[in-house]
Amino acid sequence: MAFTFFFRDAQTLRLAIEHVHPYIQSRSRITIWSAGCAMGQEPYTFAIILREIIGPYLFRNVRIYATDLDQYGNYGKIISEGKYPLKDLERIPEGILARYFSPVTDDPSQRIISEEIRNAVEFQQHDLLSFEPIRTGVHLIICKNVLLHFSAEERMKVWMMFYNALEEGGFMLHEHTQKLPDELNEKFEQIVMNAQIFRKLVR
Ligand SMILES: C[S@@+](CC[C@H](N)C(=O)[O-])C[C@H]1O[C@@H](n2cnc3c(N)ncnc32)[C@H](O)[C@@H]1O
Repeated sequence: MAFTFFFRDAQTLRLAIEHVHPYIQSRSRITIWSAGCAMGQEPYTFAIILREIIGPYLFRNVRIYATDLDQYGNYGKIISEGKYPLKDLERIPEGILARYFSPVTDDPSQRIISEEIRNAVEFQQHDLLSFEPIRTGVHLIICKNVLLHFSAEERMKVWMMFYNALEEGGFMLHEHTQKLPDELNEKFEQIVMNAQIFRKLVR
């Protein structure tokens, strides 16, 4: 089972949204790719924080494509149902939990995420090492705690795939420890000193 949890590194997700907000605010479709999403904790956390910041009107335009290798083929069901054990929701701030999660009929040990948030997230099984992007014209790619398992050569190919998937000026977000090699300086610029938030350079 993949190690992940709700509201993991929420501060960096908020920081990324602050930077991405002006870029997406006039768009009628906002396309986000959460690559290596595990059982949905990362894309759902991001969706909730994004909804809180940008409000319901703009949030209607958001589509988060959540992908994972999903070795045992069960993440799609978990993510589409959006039901999680209460013990997995302990890190979620109380107000957010009350606003976005409801009790599950017949099972007091679980909560179900709101329909508005569930409808914004779509799961797809995808192997990053296929080096084929799920789509192009993406505005933000979130890929955290995944690339560290790959070789340097594989990481470079994945970054080129992300580069090709992103729209010009689109954003890419990694965990704190994932640095970009100098060879990519002409492809991406790091836009925040103390977080791994990058922007695809406009040619
Ligand atoms: C440690 S979890 C990280 C989950 C989440 N991104 C986070 O930061 O909390 C790593 C995830 O990467 C996925 N993964 C590993 N290799 C992959 C690949 N080749 N393609 C897509 N996903 C992969 C695993 O299945 C797992 O769900």
